[in-house]
Amino acid sequence: MPANHRKILVTSALPYANGPIHLGHLVEYIQTDIWVRFQKMRGSTCWYVCADDTHGTPIMLKAQEEGITPEELIERVGREHRADFAAFDIGFDCYYSTHSPENRELAEEIYHRLKAGGYIESRTITQLYDPVKGMFLPDRFIRGECPRCGAGDQYGDSCEACGATYAPTELKNPVSAVSGAKPVEKETEHFFFKLSAFADFLKRWVHEPGHLQPEVAHKVNEWLEAGLRDWDITRDAPYFGFEIPDAPGKYFYVWLDAPIGYMASFLHLCREKGLDFDEYWGPDSTTELRHFIGKDIIYFHALFWPAMLHGAGFRTPSAIHAHGFLTVNGEKMSKSRGTFIRARTYLDHLDPQYLRYYFAAKLGPGVDDIDLNFDDFIQRVNADLVGKVVNIASRCAGFIRKRFDNRLADSLVDPDLFIGFLDAGERIARLYENREFGKAMREIMALADAANQFIDERKPWVIAKDPARDSELQAVCTQGLNLFRILVTYLKPVLPRLAREAEAFLDIGDQPWPDVATRPILGHRINDFKPLLLRVDPAKVQAMVEASRENLAPGAAESAAVEPIAPEIDYSDFAKIDLRIARIVRAENVEGADKLLRLTLDLGGETRTVFAGIKAAYDPESLEGRLTVMVANLKPRKMRFGVSEGMVLAAGPGGKALYLLSPDEGAEPGMRVK
Ligand code: MSP
Ligand code: ZN
Repeated sequence: MPANHRKILVTSALPYANGPIHLGHLVEYIQTDIWVRFQKMRGSTCWYVCADDTHGTPIMLKAQEEGITPEELIERVGREHRADFAAFDIGFDCYYSTHSPENRELAEEIYHRLKAGGYIESRTITQLYDPVKGMFLPDRFIRGECPRCGAGDQYGDSCEACGATYAPTELKNPVSAVSGAKPVEKETEHFFFKLSAFADFLKRWVHEPGHLQPEVAHKVNEWLEAGLRDWDITRDAPYFGFEIPDAPGKYFYVWLDAPIGYMASFLHLCREKGLDFDEYWGPDSTTELRHFIGKDIIYFHALFWPAMLHGAGFRTPSAIHAHGFLTVNGEKMSKSRGTFIRARTYLDHLDPQYLRYYFAAKLGPGVDDIDLNFDDFIQRVNADLVGKVVNIASRCAGFIRKRFDNRLADSLVDPDLFIGFLDAGERIARLYENREFGKAMREIMALADAANQFIDERKPWVIAKDPARDSELQAVCTQGLNLFRILVTYLKPVLPRLAREAEAFLDIGDQPWPDVATRPILGHRINDFKPLLLRVDPAKVQAMVEASRENLAPGAAESAAVEPIAPEIDYSDFAKIDLRIARIVRAENVEGADKLLRLTLDLGGETRTVFAGIKAAYDPESLEGRLTVMVANLKPRKMRFGVSEGMVLAAGPGGKALYLLSPDEGAEPGMRVK
């Protein structure tokens, strides 16, 4: 391997395992994936790792709400995340989980090393505690009135009305968002990471060239000037995470083990592929370590993370590459407008390649927000990809098939034009390298314009009318297809699928990045041309927005929207559902579940246990004795609290707004509902 061979480890931030991937996330994974694919094409050794971020209170509570274990929740969400990423061609070398043995091993090791270095300090703090639920409350799970402006229903850390930030203990009339109880103050012992001990190290680190983008370095410098506060890395049980080895009942805060998840994912890959972990993470590492993140998590990556690594005797990052946030049609993504679009919903309607290209066309090296404007999206993808790039191939391929049995000519008509395309390669490569993807796309589209102009001038459709000019026709079309091939190769980091299909059409192998020595393909037999990309259908964009609006309807208590009617079914589909009148003989709270009641139902002789998410809407006592309707032949479902043997029927958006069905006077338990 040449001495200047680059070895690079690249990460994207780890998405939380309590929600689906949405288009905002995809800005980051697409940006990173393009950069990684580019490096791989250039022959560098480049590893791309990521993982689900699985720990913390929200994940624990979400699992409780669903009546499943956190392990079950993260397993399911992990599967969904992987499927979404695969569909968008995000080519991770390893996609792992922070709830893994490797991560526990590394988190414990880093903790021990920091402790041995004198960087961990124990302090007693006072926190708000939910006496009903029996847990300390994270700021986000406390609601109350803002101590500054008095606005109601604000979070424990900041006010959305006036922008004030404060300690949760300052909130007026606080309530726990978990149980509704009034929180009490309670003392607890926590461990702190002494970030302040790293102030000098960090001041040097942030200013070393290449580590941070200029505007990010500026912001981080402000934080450094304002002074660094030590960081609370402990959470008390109940918590879903890693228990701290020498402190039973205390857990590492999710943000401690999350970035360590980058290392753990790579360690997993090392063990699988026999790579040398220390070459990438050891203190003397000469490889590159690059983290792609959103601008909201700069503090963690530019301050805590380098300090932790340095304090624990590991190498620090070569660069943090932060990007801005996605807006849709100029506004924050919104569930009610249908612009909070899940990856899955997008995939149900549109080709993922459109989005990869559109984001590439909009991305630059800075932290500016990027806007997905649907009209612009349709126009840009159709004009550039379909109208310019794919069009070159479709203009030439027909003649080659019909007149020359798919055989290319033995020479080009304009070799200089071909060389000009190759010469652009270094310029485009520099743009990819510096994350100037928008500029790279413009360079490539300018070449596409030149290729189309070449065809316009040579007019193959005119030459084709004159049998004496056969060889000229073949050479012109061969030239066009060779230009097309170079363009598609330049686009390959962005559109790997299109490139693969173009390679199959041209019957050529996996193309590396073109250089000046790249030869045209001549005297070679290609395959029949098939349309490589369809135009974006505006109706499908509209349908995607509508479907995203619908996503909100179930379970969203605040939405009064009427849920659209589901697709038509046959009577036989309906007849499969065995609905029965049931008497609720007992209704009880379920310990540890916030939304569930355990119902004991009498079906006229048979007794069933059903867990129903109706706790917010009904007092258990008020239900006992009444009749309702249940699905009696639903497959039993194993939940954390027991097996649910059916389902009772209720209407409404959810939460308090839920209305159990009941039959008219005279109905008896066990009667079938038809
Ligand atoms: N779990 C943490 C990251 C831990 S990294 C050790 C987290 N997860 S996240 O799911 O909220 O976000 C994952 C990444 O997606 C972050 O880099 C975040 O900035 C990015 N984005 C989430 N929403 C986004 C937009 N609307 N727009 C652009 N990027 C966004 O943070
Ligand atoms: Zn306020």
